Amino acid sequence: MAEFMGNLRRTDYCGSLRIEDEGKQVVVTGWVQKRRNLGSLIFVDLRDKTGIVQIVFDGTTSPEIFEKAESIRSEYVLLAKGTVRERSSKTNKIATGDVEIIVDELKILSEAETTPFEILDDTQVNENLRLKYRYLDLRRSYLQQKLITRSKITKATRNYLEDIGFMEIETPMLGKSSPEGAREYLVPSRVHPTCFYALPQSPQLFKQLLMISGFDRYYQITKCFRDEDLRANRQPEFTQIDLEMSFVEKIEDVIYPIEGLVKAIFKETLNLDLGDAHFRQMPYTEAMNRFGSDKPDTRFGLELQNVSDIAAKCDFKVFTDALSMQGPVKGSVRAINAKGFADKLSRKDIDALVEFVKTLGAKGLAWLSYPKGAEIKGSFLKFLSEENVKEFANRLNFEEGDVLFFAADKDSVVLNTLGGLRLHLAEKYNLIDKNTYDVLWITEFPMFDYSEEEGRLVAVHHPFTAPMDEDLAILDTEPLKARAKAYDIVINGQEAGGGSIRIHRQDIQEKMFDILGFTKEDIQKRFGFFVDAFRYGAPPHGGLALGLDRLAMLITKTDSIKDVIAFPKVQTASCLMTGAPDLVDEKQLQELHVQALSKE
Ligand code: AMO
Ligand code: AMP
Repeated sequence: MAEFMGNLRRTDYCGSLRIEDEGKQVVVTGWVQKRRNLGSLIFVDLRDKTGIVQIVFDGTTSPEIFEKAESIRSEYVLLAKGTVRERSSKTNKIATGDVEIIVDELKILSEAETTPFEILDDTQVNENLRLKYRYLDLRRSYLQQKLITRSKITKATRNYLEDIGFMEIETPMLGKSSPEGAREYLVPSRVHPTCFYALPQSPQLFKQLLMISGFDRYYQITKCFRDEDLRANRQPEFTQIDLEMSFVEKIEDVIYPIEGLVKAIFKETLNLDLGDAHFRQMPYTEAMNRFGSDKPDTRFGLELQNVSDIAAKCDFKVFTDALSMQGPVKGSVRAINAKGFADKLSRKDIDALVEFVKTLGAKGLAWLSYPKGAEIKGSFLKFLSEENVKEFANRLNFEEGDVLFFAADKDSVVLNTLGGLRLHLAEKYNLIDKNTYDVLWITEFPMFDYSEEEGRLVAVHHPFTAPMDEDLAILDTEPLKARAKAYDIVINGQEAGGGSIRIHRQDIQEKMFDILGFTKEDIQKRFGFFVDAFRYGAPPHGGLALGLDRLAMLITKTDSIKDVIAFPKVQTASCLMTGAPDLVDEKQLQELHVQALSKE
């Protein structure tokens, strides 16, 4: 039967005891990892969030306590008082492996049924089962360490930002629907029939208003909600380290303080020094042209090259079709030289790569291979003249041992295909040194993108992002060439954060809305309160949001965002533990003036 603690209280954490503690009287508490009963001797591994310590019951233990110890099972919650002593058979598998506690008082605080899976760090148990019993999964040190590191990140963030004059201000969760990008989560209002709140995708408008209020340097560690397709690094609710600063104009005014923050976080969590130099900046166009991505992993080569000019001279329909596209969306042919891959890749491997790029939206992947001591072969060699091959070889430094991969399509598809192929090859053939951190800023993003779906220009970042001063003049005439004062921080090929200098001049803001095709009524209805605020004295300002979950993934070196969130959601945006989202009572719906339509 479960007992009370009485007068006993924990003196030490299980994982903290060392040989220096020999002879010390201690009280430890925790869960039973393992129990071994050798008849006259019982060993129990007791676990808490700091680690495991062995507690022992032997011939010197009182019969009453020994009997109690015999009833112990896995995951029972215990309180044990005893003396630390040197262990006769030491182990280096656990940090406390030099010592054990010989117990003289034991309380079984809670018994436990057999758990649906064993609490092991290195588990093979199905993820869905673990998520259903997440509170048990969270007993694993693997996950506990990740959440401990996450907590260190937020502590380092608060310390660093408070020290340089930022203050934390909360903004509402129940807000107004705003035209900011992703699909929103809506909350029906009981008091205002047919009206809805929207959960924030980010505190963007509020933090800008706080600048207009004069708070000057704001930050907030806050939840954001986006109803998007989920991926390994995306959750429907996630956390941003969000900040905004006044009296800034150049991007460096914002990104330099952020560099300080990121360096402080790495120092506090990993004791890793990211150096004194500023993180390097790479313009968006360079990132796209060289890496096929606006979040390039620059820890390895396999860079892209534009070979459209040579491809135009080839008598190969795939190439010429791509290059003959008319209208705002242009085609291109680009290539990657996989140096030294010719003898690594069998025909089957290459076929698998062709199938892989199809999952990225490519129609195919053309290739030329030059195995050592053999002839050049390839999927489209018959369409090439000797001169064509020579030109490709010169441009791409194609030598014996190399394989060339070509993609031809709309330029965005080509970039995505080769950018994705590059990452795939690096991952599959271990080209990445996983022990390093590669941090860079991507800058000079385009202001606008052409949406084929909507047939109009859309903002790449958001409609409040300032254009680069030198591109103000071409905003009307060549909007697709205009660049923004926007920046993303990219760490090991992941977008860890993004932000911009904002527009604070009304004339430029109006021009922006104009280009985006918002009518005056649209603007007034959707964010009139925001635009109005700029009439009463807005300081120049800018900011950024770091994705806390992504930062925690990078620092704890996991590929799954679920590992750094205590209670994450799965691909279908549901919580396997609570069963959310779920049906609600008809009465609740009525109060909310909401009618649920059936699934059909
Ligand atoms: P942005 O939309 O780029 O900018 O978001 C900032 C950062 O948040 C992280 N992030 C996510 N993390 C997990 N799951 C998601 N679904 C998810 N979506 C975004 C990324 C991203 O870089 N208001 C602007 C910032 C600003 O301009 O100041 C904003 O929200 O790491
Ligand atoms: P096909 O003429 O369709 O047999 O294609 C010849 C070669 O071109 C094959 O290796 C295809 O995989 C490749 N290919 C097809 N479409 C594309 C494309 N859009 N970009 C690059 N290569 C392609």
